[in-house]
Amino acid sequence: MALPDSFLQELLAKNDIESVVSSYVAMKRRGRNLVGLCPFHGEKTASFNLYPETSSFYCFGCGAGGDVITFIKRIENLDYMDAIRFLADRAGMRMPENRQENDQTSRLRLRILEANREAARLYHAALYRPEGKVALDYYHSRGYTDATIKHFGLGFAPPGWDYLLKALRTKGFKDEELVAAFLAARGRNGGAYDIFRNRAMIPIIDIRGNVVGFGGRVLDDSKPKYINTEGTLAFSKSRNLFALNFAKNAGRELNLCEGYMDVIAMHQAGFTNTVAALGTAFPEEQMQLIARYADKINLIFDADGAGQKATKRAIDNLRKTGLDVKVVTIPDGKDPDEYIRKNGAAAFKLLLERSANAVEYRLLEISKSHSILTPDGKLAYFREAATVLAELESPVERDVYAGRLSEMLSISKDSILREIESRRKKKNRQEMKYQLPNLMRQESKEMRQVNPDALTYPRAASAEESLLGTLILHPDYIRQIAMLLPADEIVTEFNRNLYKRLLERQRQGLLVELAFLAADYDEDGMAYISRMVRDARERAVSAEDVAAYAAIIREEYALRYMTNPEGASDEDIQGMLDALRARKKK
Ligand code: GTP
Ligand code: MN
Repeated sequence: MALPDSFLQELLAKNDIESVVSSYVAMKRRGRNLVGLCPFHGEKTASFNLYPETSSFYCFGCGAGGDVITFIKRIENLDYMDAIRFLADRAGMRMPENRQENDQTSRLRLRILEANREAARLYHAALYRPEGKVALDYYHSRGYTDATIKHFGLGFAPPGWDYLLKALRTKGFKDEELVAAFLAARGRNGGAYDIFRNRAMIPIIDIRGNVVGFGGRVLDDSKPKYINTEGTLAFSKSRNLFALNFAKNAGRELNLCEGYMDVIAMHQAGFTNTVAALGTAFPEEQMQLIARYADKINLIFDADGAGQKATKRAIDNLRKTGLDVKVVTIPDGKDPDEYIRKNGAAAFKLLLERSANAVEYRLLEISKSHSILTPDGKLAYFREAATVLAELESPVERDVYAGRLSEMLSISKDSILREIESRRKKKNRQEMKYQLPNLMRQESKEMRQVNPDALTYPRAASAEESLLGTLILHPDYIRQIAMLLPADEIVTEFNRNLYKRLLERQRQGLLVELAFLAADYDEDGMAYISRMVRDARERAVSAEDVAAYAAIIREEYALRYMTNPEGASDEDIQGMLDALRARKKK
């Protein structure tokens, strides 16, 4: 479906790239542009550039680039249409009417969100009716104040098989919508019944304020303790964090807990920068989500076996994000909720401050599996510990921990540092070996795939790209160039088509901007085009330069049969000779 230009224009006006990108990446202003750490590849120095003037981004590290729509496609992993929908949602705009099949899915998604919102209201209201007293008492017994209950929108799903169904049917919801929302299920006879019955209800709210799902806890010790929303169109465990809607505004340090109840208790105690992971798998995707909102993360998990396993899994995936990770161990096998209730917020604050960082935690874990009292055990411990230290990027940190190891194992610090250095060298060599060909392969693959002709006609392609980049940057040159350079004389196919598109938009009086190309080009194409724009910007091209590019392109066009004279007509050959003669004269 082609979207109306007026709609796209409004969409782009309401989603300026600076504010969109800044909600994912911490950007620093540098002159007219902004720089930050690239969200598309792991890096420690900022090579991700944002150009508000052209509403585009480009990463010098990995070559990702494009407009705001391409950015959302990549970072939210959406196709073009869903990225548009995402941005429309963000700006509170309605999508233009269309008859696409996708439309049904997105309508159902909206209905699910509406049903969830209604359900959350009903559950919360139920708490303050006679049948809800039992749940209200339960929350109070856990120490939650009414302000906390309201803040989190906590509620109660009364017993019975159709409390919610009845209420939502009268509001016009269909059973299959409630089934799709994971609010109802179908029994053997096909009839629908409420999934959440006689449970304390905790709404899960995404960063845009949508109620995307629920956690439902029993009020006693029966099983299962929790029923959680799963697998609906509006909710994915790995893309959400409980309470991120609050915590995202609480600074760049986050606490990650295991349970809803922990998070609620933490917020009540003033630690409003706390989220929970909605499960114990800690997928990389979820850890990446954390990395968008935080630079530092404190893992606060139960001290039991399961908690320790979870800690390790989370650390492994978090390390890939480059976040600064600390592990907070709570004494006596308690969870944060219990600890705060017993010892108060101030005590917990102390615990947070004293807690070990991830390196110490890993060293501690390794020490548990080796007895350093035997020579063999000592050696095995040393080997594993050296691997951990070799991963540290900061020489100061390496030095500190080498010192500790040295005391612990009575091995000289120097020899420990030497061992670590040699491991680092080896690792770097391996990484270089792996990365370099990879980068080269990527570059040439991109060329081959996006614009295969560029390999055959490098001079033409380079002039074309300088020209096209400039035209996107300064659309007012297009009219002048259109007279100088017919589209057919653009030598390489990709660039020829791009040029035609630009001329066409200009002819129709439409805006020429990177974002309007996102409908026609995939991510590789957009990256290729935004590289042209970036290069043109850096060169600060003048109107004369533009004419010079056009001249080179015309010359290359005339000479295009040099590499393959068989395909040339007499006329082509004549043109080629003329061009060669003209070139000699210069
Ligand atoms: P309390 O025991 O009331 O303090 O709850 P909690 O939130 O501390 O839960 P717990 O530490 O037992 O579990 C941590 C998280 O794992 C919970 O918040 C749930 O998300 C999840 N979980 C726990 N039990 C179950 C269960 O029976 N089923 C499912 N699907 N998830 C569960
Ligand atoms: Mn608990």
